[in-house]
Amino acid sequence: MAGNIQIISPQMIKEQYDYMSKVRQINSERTLYATVKTYGCQQNEADSERIAGMLKEMGYNITADESRADIIVINTCAVREHAELKALSITGQFKHLKSKKPGLLIGIGGCMVSQEHRKEDIKNKYPYVDFLFGTSMLYKLPEIIYKKIKTKKRQFHLDDSDGNIAEGLPVERFSDFKAWVSIMYGCNNFCTYCIVPYVRGRERSRKPDDILNEIRGLIKDGYREITLLGQNVNSYGKDLGMDIDFSDLLQMICDIEGDFTVRFMTSHPKDATFKLIDTIAANPKIAKQFHLPLQSGSDRILKLMNRHYTFESYKALADYMKKKIPEIAITTDIIVGFPGETEEDFACTLNALEQIEYDNIYSFIYSKRKGTPAAVMEDPTTQEEKAKRFQRLLDTQNTISNRKNQEYLGKIISVLVEGRSKTDDGKLTGRNEKNRLVHFSGDDCLIGKNVKVKIIKADTFSLMGEYIEK
Ligand code: SAH
Ligand code: SF4
Ligand code: F3S
Repeated sequence: MAGNIQIISPQMIKEQYDYMSKVRQINSERTLYATVKTYGCQQNEADSERIAGMLKEMGYNITADESRADIIVINTCAVREHAELKALSITGQFKHLKSKKPGLLIGIGGCMVSQEHRKEDIKNKYPYVDFLFGTSMLYKLPEIIYKKIKTKKRQFHLDDSDGNIAEGLPVERFSDFKAWVSIMYGCNNFCTYCIVPYVRGRERSRKPDDILNEIRGLIKDGYREITLLGQNVNSYGKDLGMDIDFSDLLQMICDIEGDFTVRFMTSHPKDATFKLIDTIAANPKIAKQFHLPLQSGSDRILKLMNRHYTFESYKALADYMKKKIPEIAITTDIIVGFPGETEEDFACTLNALEQIEYDNIYSFIYSKRKGTPAAVMEDPTTQEEKAKRFQRLLDTQNTISNRKNQEYLGKIISVLVEGRSKTDDGKLTGRNEKNRLVHFSGDDCLIGKNVKVKIIKADTFSLMGEYIEK
């Protein structure tokens, strides 16, 4: 399986630190700025924190204001067509910035450009893009930027490895209290609709010690929420040749001293275990929230998707969770309009929502991805019909969400305060353990803290509360 996974040695990382200091030297005469634009999932967010970490080490000040930037790095996603179009359009918009500021460097990385055809697109149609790096070339960013500056030549770096693990790169975290920690990279599942295995390489786990040390450091630095990342965290450890699985890792993390919450994503239902559910039930530090992507409620479609479970086996997991952890919040991903999905198949998905009663769903209309098996499957359903199904799915879920939110009325819950709401009169906003959005009035000094809030109003998408002082 893991035929061509590269081990990035400490020596190779040191070489990159040498490139970082060379670029810093070149930059030392001026004050320079860097902007990192991120599209896609949390995995990309985590990668962008490493990109920003390296840029900072190279002497750039990180800014969200791209008009000030001397270097812009766009971290792209390929999961659906919309994500690609967004990344391409933003890249297009930077052309005029470059014409105003010829010294500006523009780089593009991540999942979209890890596809050969997209690399060619960028090469040929976006001549103002200075450098390109695939997901497995992230650790080489300092070398790539150095070469661009020194030789003035455009740099295009993809490789044909199955991916790598690079420890010890600098990280510039974007939050002071929530931290992403990747526990593994890549994916081996090849769901037939999905591009991720082609752009992120094969599954590979970080060593438990590296993960635990990173988390210990984060707790020491005051981080209160640790989110473990992997495309299928349930297969953690399978490639390590050690006697350790994801539940064991979670337990070791919970054994670290300190006041913090652990979340994780994503779980694949075919590999989720009752042992994992028991581990969550037994550990107060693990958030009582479980994201378990169903994709479809129809066994026929699940088979076509290559998901390796049935709705029945999925429901058995959900039922066990609800029994062991009555307060658990279960969320899911749903794809509407997979090739060949009939009205009958779709009815199974609606039925699944009613049966599981998710706290939240993330739903998507199927998007054809070049090179995946589903891209060549017969797909007779029109886009209009798919859009109608999508709306029916949302309506069904909104009714369920509202019903579940009403259950909070009058209750006092614990909320981790994240900041000020952009929409709700600038009220404080945060989430409870179940990831429910909560708004309430209060002072800035509460940001980053866990506070008690009494719920006085419940909508479909959020709760309104009053801060309860101790
Ligand atoms: N590894 C995770 C997440 C993968 S991407 C998992 O297996 O759940 C996140 C979600 O995007 C998927 O769960 C799926 O619902 C959706 N998705 C992936 N490919 C898609 C496609 N081609 N069209 C529409 N949605 C897609
Ligand atoms: Fe894609 Fe399936 Fe892997 Fe998730 S498990 S990343 S949906 S191939
Ligand atoms: Fe997108 Fe890559 Fe994540 S394709 S969803 S950024 S793994």
